[in-house]
Amino acid sequence: MHKKDIIQLLLGKYYLHAPQHEQATAFAPTNIALCKYWGKRDTELNLPVTSSLSISLGNKGASTTLRLLSEAEDVLILNGSPLETTTRFGKRVVEFLDLFRIQQQPSLRIDINMNIPLAAGLASSACGFASLVAALNKLYGWGLSLQDLSILARLGSGSASRSFWSGFVEWHAGIQADGMDSYSEPFSAAWPELCIGLHVVSHEAKPIPSREAMQRTRETSVLYRSWPEQVQRDLLAIKQAINQQDISALGAAAETNALAMHATMLSAWPPISYSLPATTAAMHAIWQLRSAGLVVYFTQDAGPNLKLLFLKKDIELLSKHFPSLEIIAL
Ligand code: DP6
Repeated sequence: MHKKDIIQLLLGKYYLHAPQHEQATAFAPTNIALCKYWGKRDTELNLPVTSSLSISLGNKGASTTLRLLSEAEDVLILNGSPLETTTRFGKRVVEFLDLFRIQQQPSLRIDINMNIPLAAGLASSACGFASLVAALNKLYGWGLSLQDLSILARLGSGSASRSFWSGFVEWHAGIQADGMDSYSEPFSAAWPELCIGLHVVSHEAKPIPSREAMQRTRETSVLYRSWPEQVQRDLLAIKQAINQQDISALGAAAETNALAMHATMLSAWPPISYSLPATTAAMHAIWQLRSAGLVVYFTQDAGPNLKLLFLKKDIELLSKHFPSLEIIAL
């Protein structure tokens, strides 16, 4: 099955219809996975091997405005500066928009504004594609449900399927070949005491995009064979911990899950490591603080920076140990 088949299924009679408005704007929060999505059962439709669970970062994310243009070519603006449509991200955006258009028409001005540190490994493709899909929904007047938008955004980037809600969100892996059962929905209640802090060790671009890394891992890593089982265990533990608002249980499961994901990458060939010496040093510092009684855990995505998990009451103490920690309000 191809992306276009799914879009046709979802849009029905609105498929390839003309936009209903001159312009539309939509915002989507970015999300951080506590139980990771790593590996696809279908690379065309971004269908995951396992379910995953994330937390959205409140008002941190992307706002996308789409405007109809009379010129022939699309114009892409990222955070106020033109972005060539030949760049990796630019190409992905335009190719995605082409799924909804005939011969690249109507051409669009696409303004994407992100209020997250772009190079710091906060999922920019997640909020980028989710806000793009939400803006398309308004521009074309499709009136789709959030569940359907989650499926559409997944076609752009897997983790984008989780970026339509605040709080905790679960992305169901699903089993169907067309992926109509692979969408996200909110999980459980809010946990206002929970905090996430961003510990940046490097702003450098990642050596290998996560899309390629997860593919290589799935194909070559012996440890990947145990990944689905690992996720099953961690997902259950994370859900229980959220329901009971138990930071130690949540932190332990999330940290284990992230480390297991990175272990699968280390055993891939050629091996992949997103960690820098400063990443490992920060992990050791966290483990030391924890053994001294401070309740702090970390998770790590496809980059060298760490996201710390802790409770509001420990903000001051933690900031002493990590002075440049950026507390991301939830
Ligand atoms: C490590 O969603 O960026 O952040 O579906 O190929 O676009 P594609 O991958 P992407 O992968 C995210 C991987 C991760 C874990 C996660 O967010 O669950």
